[in-house]
Amino acid sequence: MVEIPRPLTTERLILRHFSTDDLDDYYRYQSLPETARYLYGEARSYAQCMDRIARYVQEPFNEPGHWATFAVQLKSAPGLVGEMALKWNEGGKPEGPKPERFGEIGWTLAPEAQGHGYATEAARAVLDLAMNQLDFYRVEARLDARNTASAAICERLGMLFEGVLRNNMYLKGEWTSEAIYAVVRDQQPHLGPGIT
Ligand SMILES: CC(C)(COP(=O)(O)OP(=O)(O)OC[C@H]1O[C@@H](n2cnc3c(N)ncnc32)[C@H](O)[C@@H]1OP(=O)(O)O)[C@@H](O)C(=O)NCCC(=O)NCCS
Repeated sequence: MVEIPRPLTTERLILRHFSTDDLDDYYRYQSLPETARYLYGEARSYAQCMDRIARYVQEPFNEPGHWATFAVQLKSAPGLVGEMALKWNEGGKPEGPKPERFGEIGWTLAPEAQGHGYATEAARAVLDLAMNQLDFYRVEARLDARNTASAAICERLGMLFEGVLRNNMYLKGEWTSEAIYAVVRDQQPHLGPGIT
């Protein structure tokens, strides 16, 4: 059993457990085509959002395949402004004194919360958690190569660009290329302050 300390706090944010009270805020941004544009799935219906929230409220984080999803809230106001996710992927080696976990990070903000650096601030805290507290060996971000806002977050965090998988996915009616950024233990420039 891996304990995820929650809430995580940063200078301006609280990264906490999701609650069923988050449903309307979550639906407001997850139902927008602009939110889904570079995500793997389509904009979500209310029923799909209910389903997601129900999952996030009680997700375990014990083994590869599991997710830790954080509701992002401003310290200055109640409610949900976005989400951060850390996925534990298959890979790494289980033997040895340190777990060699391998993961993936992702982020979404409501449109009105964008443009303030909140996603970067939240992502820095989740990376800090993964690399420095949960002993992940490698955490990567995979994004639609056209998603410049997401790539800018990776760059601000100091994640290293590893390349583009050209037309490796057929999404929303077209071939789409995936860009990969990653942090790797012992091969990482300074990530900057994360959790406060
Ligand atoms: C990806 C996404 C989270 C990026 O949002 P964002 O607001 O651009 O990212 P941040 O919160 O880190 O904010 C960065 C912006 O705030 C500005 N900013 C303002 N104050 C800032 C501060 N104190 N610190 C850092 N940046 C600040 C930055 O200059 C930057 O703006 P710019 O792009 O015009 O230069 C958002 O576009 C989104 O949710 N998209 C839909 C879902 C999605 O595609 N997710 C990614 C899947 S891989």
